[in-house]
Amino acid sequence: MPSTIARADVRSLLARMETLRVLVVGDVMLDEWVWGAVSRISPEAPVPVVAVSDHSFTLGGAGNVASNLRAIGARVAFAGVVGDDPEGKRVCKLLDEIAVDRTAVIVVGDRPTTRKTRIVAQNQQVVRADWESIAPLAAADRRRVCEAVERAARHYDAVVLSDYAKGLFSRDLVEAANEAPIVTADPKPANVALFGGVTCVAPNAQEAALATGIKISDDASLAQAGAALLTQLDCRYVVITRGERGMALFGRSGERLLIPSVARTVYDVSGAGDTVIAVLSLALAAEAPVDLALALANFAAGAVVGKLGTATASPAEILALVGAHD
Ligand SMILES: Nc1ncnc2c1ncn2[C@@H]1O[C@H](COP(=O)(O)OP(=O)(O)OP(=O)(O)O)[C@@H](O)[C@H]1O
Ligand SMILES: [Mg+2]
Repeated sequence: MPSTIARADVRSLLARMETLRVLVVGDVMLDEWVWGAVSRISPEAPVPVVAVSDHSFTLGGAGNVASNLRAIGARVAFAGVVGDDPEGKRVCKLLDEIAVDRTAVIVVGDRPTTRKTRIVAQNQQVVRADWESIAPLAAADRRRVCEAVERAARHYDAVVLSDYAKGLFSRDLVEAANEAPIVTADPKPANVALFGGVTCVAPNAQEAALATGIKISDDASLAQAGAALLTQLDCRYVVITRGERGMALFGRSGERLLIPSVARTVYDVSGAGDTVIAVLSLALAAEAPVDLALALANFAAGAVVGKLGTATASPAEILALVGAHD
């Protein structure tokens, strides 16, 4: 790990990343936000009544990975499923708004679009309601997604597999994606075994512990979990994100990097993992040295945790943090 990172190197890497094409395959969600203020306690039950002042929608789950890739400037396509419902149409509209190709978004009849509704009063989340099905896709729908990914994968510089365990991923889908030169995955622990053969997996520490059965309590157990995932999945790199403790990388050729987090302010850590997988994938696809790719993903994550709501980092925001850590 170089002790200093040259801004010029980061600048030219970001410029290369902007020219790349990435296919995101994953569990897309609609994040619904109901904003307001608590005016009183309900006469019906001992709960607050929120007077609503605003209502908005954002892309969540794998959709947030696509947003993060677009924020860097890459060309992005999305493959996944939505329900045959107004929420599914809204997801498609949000993808259109950020110019993500959604030719491979498939509408399925037997499940709702995954939606998470958060009611937020005085900037505090009061309650969240989830609409979702986590059952595996029907076989015919699974085949449609696989075929779309199989057709597309080899035409992209990278494929990112963003798994939120909503029933999309199967071994044949990962195999279809493995046609691309770089394939990265952010797997949920229960599905880890599906992701064999990808270039890089990037779970958080808790997920890595659950996936391997190794309790991560120090650098030695962290390295054990990293080694176990490398062997289990036969991938080139394992990145384990560790919240405020930064991230670790373990490579098949013995690479081993531990880097601290760089956030100046921390408001909201949700979605930082999506930023990591997006930036890391693009940097690897741009053939950056792996230490620089990891550092860039870490800077981008440092930028997004300083913002409210799941957020994205622009090249300028990433560069600003690099400058602060020269
Ligand atoms: N509290 C924090 N302070 C500083 N940096 C943080 C903090 N939390 C997260 N980060 C940055 O974000 C990266 C990813 O965070 P984390 O390990 O929490 O991922 P995650 O659990 O997958 O997140 P999520 O699932 O919410 O997207 C970390 O490696 C670090 O760079
Ligand atoms: Mg995560």
